[in-house]
Amino acid sequence: TVRRYLIAGNWKMHCRRSDGAALAADLAARVGPVADRRFDLLVCPPATIIGAIAQTVAGQAVAVGGQDCHAQAQGAHTGDIAAEMLADVGAGWVIVGHSERRTNHAETSALIKAKAAAALRAGLTAIICVGETEAERDAGHAEAVVAAQLAGSIPEGATAANTVVAYEPVWAIGTGRTPTLADIAAMHGMIRARLSGLVADPDAVRILYGGSVKPSNAAEILGLLDVDGALVGGASLKADDFWAIAQAC
Ligand code: G3H
Repeated sequence: TVRRYLIAGNWKMHCRRSDGAALAADLAARVGPVADRRFDLLVCPPATIIGAIAQTVAGQAVAVGGQDCHAQAQGAHTGDIAAEMLADVGAGWVIVGHSERRTNHAETSALIKAKAAAALRAGLTAIICVGETEAERDAGHAEAVVAAQLAGSIPEGATAANTVVAYEPVWAIGTGRTPTLADIAAMHGMIRARLSGLVADPDAVRILYGGSVKPSNAAEILGLLDVDGALVGGASLKADDFWAIAQAC
């Protein structure tokens, strides 16, 4: 199976309308209307500007996604946003289960599975995040933790067409530290193997690595067998850096 790379930028709680639009327009100008033959490009702005960013990149090969969604399509949920609402303003993707959601909002794998199912219902592609903490890795439990998150977070009906997995070791996020290439390769291989019990087409599912990806380490990480792209935080806020990472595909 030939898997196309996906280079995804998670802007987290950064960017107002003006600097977000400038960043998205810069990327759109670089990639143009036809996707690069090697990679898909995705930006996930904060919810307040998703609609504006989707308009900014309309007609260009830059996709837009949300950073979270609610598990239900509508209802009395103050402050929450339904997957259908993301789709309504031009998003085609949504990140679910990012470690900052799992930790700061006490999200369980069961909730993340429900959110991913909501994303699929709304026609969005779900990027389901998994990853161990440093203590879990030090204790030798990294693979068991990730395997349990994976089994608990992937919804019925997930396929390579509507689901992407992102492996993000919590201790590598925003720290400048990354696992060794051997550790990344081992984890991605384990995830690929586990996917066979969870989706019909495990070999076609894209598995992203995330955590301190930058231009200087992108080529070696993206060169690993089961690494099909990157989920980029800090370095996605600078067009030059994000583009350089994409060029490493
Ligand atoms: O979703 C993105 C990750 O949390 C990675 O963030 O590239 O700033 O380490 P980072």
